[in-house]
Amino acid sequence: MDHLTAGQSAPFSNTILSSGTAHSSGTAPSSNTASSSGSRASSAKYDFTTLIDRTGRDALAVEVIPFENARIAEGFSRIPMWVADMNYATFPAIQEHIIERASHPAFGYFNPSEEYFQSIIRWQKVRNGVQELTKEAIGYENGVLGCVASALQAFTSPGDAVLLHSPTYIGFTGTLENNGRKIVLSDLILDENGVWRMDYEDMDRKIREHHIHFAIFCSPHNPTGRVWSRDEIEAAMEIYKRNDCIVVSDEIWSDLVLEDYRHIPTQSVSEDAHNRTIAVYAPSKTFNLAGLVGSYHIIYNPYLRDRVCRQSSLSHYNSMNILSMHALIGAYQPEGEQWVDQLRQVLTGNVNFAWDFIRTHFPGVRLSKPQGTYMLYLDCSEWCRAHGLSLDALIRRGIRVGVIWQDGRPFNRPDSIRMNLALPRQVVEEAFLRLEKYVFCAEDFSEPSGTEAPYSP
Ligand SMILES: Cc1ncc(COP(=O)(O)O)c(C=O)c1O
Repeated sequence: MDHLTAGQSAPFSNTILSSGTAHSSGTAPSSNTASSSGSRASSAKYDFTTLIDRTGRDALAVEVIPFENARIAEGFSRIPMWVADMNYATFPAIQEHIIERASHPAFGYFNPSEEYFQSIIRWQKVRNGVQELTKEAIGYENGVLGCVASALQAFTSPGDAVLLHSPTYIGFTGTLENNGRKIVLSDLILDENGVWRMDYEDMDRKIREHHIHFAIFCSPHNPTGRVWSRDEIEAAMEIYKRNDCIVVSDEIWSDLVLEDYRHIPTQSVSEDAHNRTIAVYAPSKTFNLAGLVGSYHIIYNPYLRDRVCRQSSLSHYNSMNILSMHALIGAYQPEGEQWVDQLRQVLTGNVNFAWDFIRTHFPGVRLSKPQGTYMLYLDCSEWCRAHGLSLDALIRRGIRVGVIWQDGRPFNRPDSIRMNLALPRQVVEEAFLRLEKYVFCAEDFSEPSGTEAPYSP
């Protein structure tokens, strides 16, 4: 059912489903009913199987093909598997809170409400075991990267070096480059079990060599999906302490650890970490709210906090939007936890499926199994070598059959591809079947003659 007759412009078409169990809808369902497919569907309360048509609904994911000269061949629907947002309806109470607030006709200047702060304090307590959080330590941030930029400007000068791990989230690279800072990368290394590990010796040496006093730590890590253990975070923080580094800990993915994993807040590993870390969180990744904009910092150390707040206030741009505040309040409720836990179950299923499929069907493609996030970071170097195909050609081949995946090289690993699995399971399966049949296991690996020519299998 992968070769479609219609709906190329639609992100997903119903015709990709053989069971006909899901339906396409232009709006999020007002109540999330039990899903109709998937092994755990009977206990599921929220809907992660409906295919939502995001066309014309302000969605980069379905409006952009992020690769030059790549086209979808006629007959294939578009499966968005790149930018890090989700193709699920958000938790319904979020919409309800926004609508309720929007029904009042005044939208003047405001201060964040007590409910906003208490919602964050409660969420951090029940989700991350944070006991000591107070209102004073919380500050609004216009995006996680906005906080990274403010902290960078507060504690470093142009030309200063900053330590990052590689692979690296491209948002960090862009923020550092835009601010004229020097990026020093410490490579994560795959151990004998295929698990990404920090190289503490390398971190320590590079920090000293480059006189670094500012580091960005991504936990869970994008794009590898590593969920760092307490021991690992302790070891990293010990190095930052020894070298007098201020640490921005980007924990935007903290709610999306897969089943069997637990997020450890960086600030919780020691008294020193508590005081040296600028932690950044957001409901945006967790609940698919990136378009609303809104994240927050937790900074316990008054000196760090005052410097970051002063810096971010200088532009007068760091102000909260009223609907974003109500979205957070709607999200961070006990029922929101249930929604997130069901989402984690769904993502775990998708990751397990993709992991098994890749290992058994795509020889030469390597993957370290993610422990969190919904991203896969594929190493295709062996496959490209074996088939005499460039990564560019491989990426275009995937896109030709509607799998809109992302060039992984800007994340600092050669011949890599990043893939987003936050889609209904049937669509993920469809994408992998297409990749098997037309891309990784296709019989003809020659370069496509024309990217716009209809694909004929
Ligand atoms: C690790 C990480 N940090 C930050 C962001 C972006 O956050 P924001 O949109 O709040 O700036 C992303 C988005 O994918 C991310 O993966």
